[in-house]
Amino acid sequence: MQKVHVPLEGREYDVLIGGGLIARAGFEIAPLLNRPRVAVLTEQRVADLHLKDLQAGLAAADVEMSAMALTPGETSKSWDGLSKAVDFLLDQKVERGDMIVAFGGGVIGDLAGFAAAILRRGVRFVQIPTTLLAQVDSSVGGKTGINAAQGKNLIGAFHQPSLVLADIDILGTLSTRDFLAGYGEVVKYGCLGDAEFFTWLEKNGPALAAGDRALRGEAVRRSVEMKAGIVTRDEKEHGERALLNLGHTFGHALEAATGYSDRLLHGEGVAIGCVLAFEVSARLGLMAQESPSRLRAHLAAMGTKKDMADIQGELPDSDGLIRLMGQDKKVQGGALHFVLARAIGEAFVTSDVDTDVVRSVLDEALAER
Ligand code: GLY
Repeated sequence: MQKVHVPLEGREYDVLIGGGLIARAGFEIAPLLNRPRVAVLTEQRVADLHLKDLQAGLAAADVEMSAMALTPGETSKSWDGLSKAVDFLLDQKVERGDMIVAFGGGVIGDLAGFAAAILRRGVRFVQIPTTLLAQVDSSVGGKTGINAAQGKNLIGAFHQPSLVLADIDILGTLSTRDFLAGYGEVVKYGCLGDAEFFTWLEKNGPALAAGDRALRGEAVRRSVEMKAGIVTRDEKEHGERALLNLGHTFGHALEAATGYSDRLLHGEGVAIGCVLAFEVSARLGLMAQESPSRLRAHLAAMGTKKDMADIQGELPDSDGLIRLMGQDKKVQGGALHFVLARAIGEAFVTSDVDTDVVRSVLDEALAER
């Protein structure tokens, strides 16, 4: 088992990464509890596959649990999903000193974390992420929230978990597509801040996608280590944390354009968005053209989406996509903020991007469809 510590003063916690952590959940969580019970928020698919194992893992340390399973998918990350979650927690008489467990992917982690942030003005929670995407990104760093009709993640709060248990074995039950969508976020870390990690992924990505547990553990550890460092230096995203949004301005617009449906999963949007951000960087003369080509080649070798030509069905034109980008949280004073890069592993944030350049990159990408 590996441990990454997130040393935020007064809110510090560990991320444990390894096999068999669900079976050990009770032993890891019990020392944090005021009384031996937790309330678990999960979703139906995860509950069907894994809730019994979590219950057994908790019971092994005499921790009781009650659980509510929400409808799988992004629609639960809504006022309606939040109200169901909060009603359940209040019905379970969860007290201020109790612990909530978020057991699922990014949707459940964000929703349960937000419910924990507002219930009785703040209850602690543990993240047990069940997808690669949630293990390497959304379960760490304390961003919680729900979607609005106007855009994704527009309602929320920073609320750090008390512990994160990233069980590598659970990744074995993901579909290849879901695993690879999460891999989009792993590649993002190499692209934004660690060229050596990117090269490591080029070498080891296919084997870790095929199931190598040690390589999966190492990819999760390095991603979490990078995220923990950034979050510790800039918890509330006043600066450096925005680097984690590499690929997200484009990705969120594409997700909105495809109705947040399974035409495009979040991590697939991020991967395509990273390529587009690299293309804009190259067009602006900041980065060698070889870099977007190298990223595209790696994503192709992994068998995951790499550009807009891989998205089925209609998409808006470039102006329509730029309008959707305007809904992004990263808009400040009306100016779009982009994460661009000078090289693989050297990303930076800027608001100084000529919209015509963005439009021409999008036009070319759309023309290849
Ligand atoms: N997912 C981006 C962040 O946590 O800041």
